[in-house]
Amino acid sequence: MSLVLFFFGPFFFKASHPPSRQRRLFVSVMDAIGPKRDNPPFREKSLFMTAKIIDGKALADAVRAELAEKVAALKATQGITPCLAVILVGADPASSVYVRNKVAACEKAGFRSIKEVYPADVEPIVVLGKIAELNADPDVHGILVQLPLPRQFDTEAVLEAIVPEKDVDGFHAENVGALMQCNPRFIPCTPYGVMKMLESAKVPLKGAEAVIVGRSNIVGKPMAMLLLAQSCTVTVCHSQSKDLAFHTKRADILVAAVGRAKMITGDMIKPGATVIDVGINRTADGKLCGDVDFESAKEVAGAITPVPGGVGPMTITMLLANTLESAERTLK
Ligand SMILES: NC(=O)c1ccc[n+]([C@@H]2O[C@H](COP(=O)([O-])OP(=O)(O)OC[C@H]3O[C@@H](n4cnc5c(N)ncnc54)[C@H](OP(=O)(O)O)[C@@H]3O)[C@@H](O)[C@H]2O)c1
Repeated sequence: MSLVLFFFGPFFFKASHPPSRQRRLFVSVMDAIGPKRDNPPFREKSLFMTAKIIDGKALADAVRAELAEKVAALKATQGITPCLAVILVGADPASSVYVRNKVAACEKAGFRSIKEVYPADVEPIVVLGKIAELNADPDVHGILVQLPLPRQFDTEAVLEAIVPEKDVDGFHAENVGALMQCNPRFIPCTPYGVMKMLESAKVPLKGAEAVIVGRSNIVGKPMAMLLLAQSCTVTVCHSQSKDLAFHTKRADILVAAVGRAKMITGDMIKPGATVIDVGINRTADGKLCGDVDFESAKEVAGAITPVPGGVGPMTITMLLANTLESAERTLK
């Protein structure tokens, strides 16, 4: 009897129950039939409930191919090559890798890129002078300063020094305000990438409970604005939130943007939820991982982004999209 249920049970239940119920029913059937009852790994490996993977790398490749075509057309018809200038201060290894990846992505898609690198002890006035020069250069369409900056810098003052029309990161106060008013000039790249991923995965947004863990200016807050604009009911959690799991378990869409390895575990996720992992962390053995414990989460979620290969590639892609848009606006 156990064997019959094991092999044919899935097909019977799949036809008549939605995925979240299927898992509960499957677990209770396996509990009822006895021998594997005290073997949690067996239950974890349910035949039913493995989340669909939202492949950010594949989506990024597709969007970048479209962008490259548009860049080629802009060059051919208008003689304009979209150009992104990236400023890096210091030699922080993670920042250096991000800048290298951004420049490489630009070149691969036919954009021009300018990379300005300064030592960690550079005087802020030198960097501000370079920003003023790039602001005035009509052949430069996007400017970004890689964060974080060394201590001697007033980060806000540096971000405000970039003219809003070239602020392709969307961090300038004027652009933040425009986003708040649902009239964005440039959408910050990481939340923009997340919205594209939700769209590509056809995740219903209207009326959905969206919970964001993290309230940073670059991820959590703009993410909240974008989901709110799509009529989600949005909750933003942070380090002082009480009973985090109470909030995350209500989420149809859960976005983790904290910077703490694997802090969101499967038992904090609503069955069938869409889980977007923005976090980039390193484990003790040097491997990359997100803020979500992928192994336990994928057994509960309906869809999930991996790390690496999830939000990261989409962030750079939307930076290119913003730079192209900025170049196209010069024609208007
Ligand atoms: N994939 C990408 O392209 C991409 C882009 C940007 C960032 N990231 C990654 O995303 C993560 C977040 O980045 P960020 O710049 O937004 O970080 P951040 O500025 O350090 O913000 C982290 C947020 O998490 C909250 N937090 C910290 N501990 C918490 C806890 N125990 N429970 C609930 N909330 C907690 C903080 O709350 P408080 O405000 O109360 O301190 C803060 O709002 C990092 O891993 C970063 O590397 C990835």
